[in-house]
Amino acid sequence: MSNIDLSINFAGIKAPNPFWLASAPPTNSGYQVMKAFEAGWGGAVWKTLGVPVQNVSSRYGAINYRDTRMAGLNNIELITDRPLADNLREIEEVKKYFPNHAVIASLMVESKKEWFQIVKDVENAGADGIELNFGCPHGMCERGMGSAVGQEPEVLNTIVQWVMQAASIPVITKLTPNISDITDPALAAVRGGSSALSLINTIKSIVGIDLDTYAPYPIVDGKGTNGGYCGPAVKPIALHMLKELAGHPEIRNTPISGIGGIETWRDVVEFILLGATSVQVCTAVMHYGFGIVREMEAGLRQFMSDKGYSSIYDFAGKAVPNVVEWKHLNLHYKVVASINADKCIGCQLCHIACDDGAHQAIALPSNGSRVPEIIDENCVGCNLCSLVCPVEDCITMERRDDGSKTETWAERTVLGKIPEHFNDPRGGGVGHFVPEPSAALNYKRKDRSGRK
Ligand SMILES: Cc1cc2nc3c(=O)[nH]c(=O)nc-3n(C[C@H](O)[C@H](O)[C@H](O)COP(=O)(O)O)c2cc1C
Ligand code: SF4
Ligand code: SF4
Repeated sequence: MSNIDLSINFAGIKAPNPFWLASAPPTNSGYQVMKAFEAGWGGAVWKTLGVPVQNVSSRYGAINYRDTRMAGLNNIELITDRPLADNLREIEEVKKYFPNHAVIASLMVESKKEWFQIVKDVENAGADGIELNFGCPHGMCERGMGSAVGQEPEVLNTIVQWVMQAASIPVITKLTPNISDITDPALAAVRGGSSALSLINTIKSIVGIDLDTYAPYPIVDGKGTNGGYCGPAVKPIALHMLKELAGHPEIRNTPISGIGGIETWRDVVEFILLGATSVQVCTAVMHYGFGIVREMEAGLRQFMSDKGYSSIYDFAGKAVPNVVEWKHLNLHYKVVASINADKCIGCQLCHIACDDGAHQAIALPSNGSRVPEIIDENCVGCNLCSLVCPVEDCITMERRDDGSKTETWAERTVLGKIPEHFNDPRGGGVGHFVPEPSAALNYKRKDRSGRK
């Protein structure tokens, strides 16, 4: 593993590794950023600077899913409430101690004059780069900043151009996911001259309602407001948006910093595979502290060693060509579920899921055993049973086509072979087994244990 070099040059911003803290409470002060660098983080995007705000209390709400605390986190915090001068002094101090680490100043102000001023201020303090916060989906957007800019590509483009005029250090534009097509603001940023992109900021959300006061969480004196959602729950949305940018012909050459639900080395690798060349983390650090970077680094190094990579640029974006539009998937590829009886604990969750929620392709055993049986000819290969089975690798999906035939919806369309009317026999479900409706009445009377 000795030839592995984790260092990056992200649009001109150099860092010893791709692990950066996202602009958020963990980067609120020089104390925290220095502590994080000591722990192993390679960069930090400072808590967004601007005209200091007044925050409310309380500020966070969470989705606790079953045994998992903070599967999703929601916040109604604004940008920094600390004076700019204090932050600038601390940025300068951090850079003295850590000249080779990346310190990026996140900025959000309103007028052209303020943009010019604050860009110069953070440059003078020694920041290595600037991140433009066009994402905050609460509070700041009501004042015409944050996601109000991120949702208006023309306004975003104008502000990026202002900043590019003023800045002599690299500029990252941070995008809001609260938009129907992420490529619109990304293109506006790239066309405005932005050196790089980052995404995602938080998702506009309400995490729950108190059943006594009827106020949304987090509650501020009996009322609440929509917050910004982040943490493990948002990772799939972030990955999808990252892929949209990394695969776009006009955007793909612009470096992208991936953000959203990153907690483990696996998450890091997935973001890099989809085109990110640095990653940013907020919620996982708020949950577990700066120490999580040790597992991230060890895991990333092991992965790279196993695959024979010496730099993250060796595998960045390698998954992008494998994400295609649905119409380009092979319709002849066929998998069927298979249960490993030696691993099965007989919980029969797979039977319930398939019978009620899928395709009635798992029978309860008739021989006294509790191991269900797959009815091959009914199985459409949807994966549901393997996802609900609580035993790892107990249900696997086995390939049944011989790989000799490939045909996609796009190809069928060209050949005029797609269904054209409601009862067209060329629909895929023709011939699939479906029980008679009245069979449901008999099911209720069955002994679910499998005994006759
Ligand atoms: C409490 C809190 C405050 C945040 N403040 C900022 C901010 O000031 N500027 C900013 O660009 N993003 C801010 N974010 C968004 C994060 O930087 C990040 O984009 C988002 O949380 C997704 O990453 P995660 O899933 O790792 O948390 C904040 C997030 C949280 C939870
Ligand atoms: S869900 Fe898994 S463990 Fe449970 S009965 Fe089905 S195969 Fe067995
Ligand atoms: S893959 Fe889908 S259809 Fe096949 S047995 Fe499992 S749940 Fe049923």
